[in-house]
Amino acid sequence: MINYRLCSGPRDSLRRTDEKKQMLNNNKTYISKLKNNVGEEVTLNGWLYNSRASGKIQFLIIRDGTGLCQCIAEKGKVSEQLFDELKHLGQESSLMVTGVVRADERSLGGFELTVTDAQIISVTTDYPITPKSHGIDFLLKNRHLHLRSQRQWCIGKIRHTVIDAIRRFFNDNGFTLIDTPIFTAMAAEGEQTLFEADYFGTPMHLTQTGQLHLEAAAMSFGRVYCFGPTFRAEKSKTRRHLTEFWMVEPEVAFIELDGLLELAENFVSFIAAQVLQNNRGELETLDADIAALEKIKPPFYRLSYTEAVDILTGQKTKDFLDKQLEQVKTEKKQIETKISELEHKSASGGLKQWQKDKIAAELIELRSELAEVNTKIENNPKHAKLAAEFQWGKDLGGSDETIISQMHDKPVFVTHYPKQAKAFYMKTDRDNEKVVLNFDLLAPAGFGEIIGGSVREDDYDLLLERIKEQGLNIENYNWYLDLRKYGSVPHGGFGLGVERTVAWLTGEPHIRQCIAFPRLMDKVYI
Ligand code: 4AD
Ligand code: MG
Repeated sequence: MINYRLCSGPRDSLRRTDEKKQMLNNNKTYISKLKNNVGEEVTLNGWLYNSRASGKIQFLIIRDGTGLCQCIAEKGKVSEQLFDELKHLGQESSLMVTGVVRADERSLGGFELTVTDAQIISVTTDYPITPKSHGIDFLLKNRHLHLRSQRQWCIGKIRHTVIDAIRRFFNDNGFTLIDTPIFTAMAAEGEQTLFEADYFGTPMHLTQTGQLHLEAAAMSFGRVYCFGPTFRAEKSKTRRHLTEFWMVEPEVAFIELDGLLELAENFVSFIAAQVLQNNRGELETLDADIAALEKIKPPFYRLSYTEAVDILTGQKTKDFLDKQLEQVKTEKKQIETKISELEHKSASGGLKQWQKDKIAAELIELRSELAEVNTKIENNPKHAKLAAEFQWGKDLGGSDETIISQMHDKPVFVTHYPKQAKAFYMKTDRDNEKVVLNFDLLAPAGFGEIIGGSVREDDYDLLLERIKEQGLNIENYNWYLDLRKYGSVPHGGFGLGVERTVAWLTGEPHIRQCIAFPRLMDKVYI
């Protein structure tokens, strides 16, 4: 046994450190709870997000996983040694800070801490991600660290609310959760996007959707949903595609198309309302369009595919795109002016280092905005041509969806697509055999499809015909056909993509930012 009394020096100081930590931990709280402690001395455990010194005062921005808080350390009010240590503390060092809580409307999060003491836990030097902007490739390579950024944090909190709202909505509305398999032999959404898996010598793949299995469960439980990761070997590098994404899928027995649309609009409105209720601060930080989200209430717009094609090929779209081009050109001029002003300012000298850093960060941001605007200017005539020449019968392309969605201030349902463009399981419209009873829900402001759904073909012979037409191996679909043999009923459902929904709600243009560890066609970073 070690006799501690015999140990001197470092061990003693370690013990003192532990005692101090213990002492500091006694009044530990979280930044999100500071409103309960105004005027009191509390301790925050966190990381140094950013800091700035101004003579005898240091402004330390601390993050603790629940928010950000400015902590002010003043010379003379903390020990000389601590003041010096804090001054040289690198970004993302971990520490415990004790101080008195002060309410201040102007302050980040509404509260500040006047530092009385601190305990540095781990000193970080040369943290690779600075508050300046970095290229996206660098940030994705450093995703394990970039998750700590304010933007990723806000998106992560909103994603959490979206997922909570999804479960709550279905659980509170009589749906039973069914977990569908990830290994499957079925190809519900086309054989081009299957990820192969070798299942002990039997060819299998990773599921594209839980829907087919869920249909079986709907015949037992009536109203069901599944929620999990789904996989598509999408050979597209667009801002809307991941190879692994999360999808929630409800399936309902005894429902027709109108009932499905109603369910979808109530569901999406509930999600938007929950985000508005729980994440207003995050939405503000992300500069999301809160006023637009407040409009997300039923009923949504309804268009048939044929009406959508008429809009795309008509004068309205042409005028809309012309006007948009003019607006983007004006935006380009404004960005260019700002860039040259900042370049001028930065060259003029006499600036402090933090001011230079701030300008450099703004310039990186503005240049990336300029690149985006240039892409829009380049794409405008291409998209106009695609829309004008759109042929009835094709599936709507990404740019067509964008146009329709930009023309609406609320989500819009597009229904009754041509049979040839859609999946085999969709029910043929008995009043018009050329189309199916399906819908896509397009989110507004150009975000495009967030939901795809349909009534399912419930006639055995018609379904068999469609499976054969697709050249699918009938053996794998016999159990699915059985559902039409034994008590077939009208039924249907839909799938909502979590990342696309989060992208729309947060105003984040690329869905890769809406999942912690994205899987992209060209790269899996970490
Ligand atoms: O339209 P999809 O392909 O529909 C289905 O999978 C149906 N089986 C759902 C059902 O009826 N139960 O996909 C549904 C949604 C899309 O609207 C989109 O939000 C999302 O899933 N999604 C993707 N999200 C990210 N990356 C991809 N590659 C996606 N593919 C589809
Ligand atoms: Mg779809």
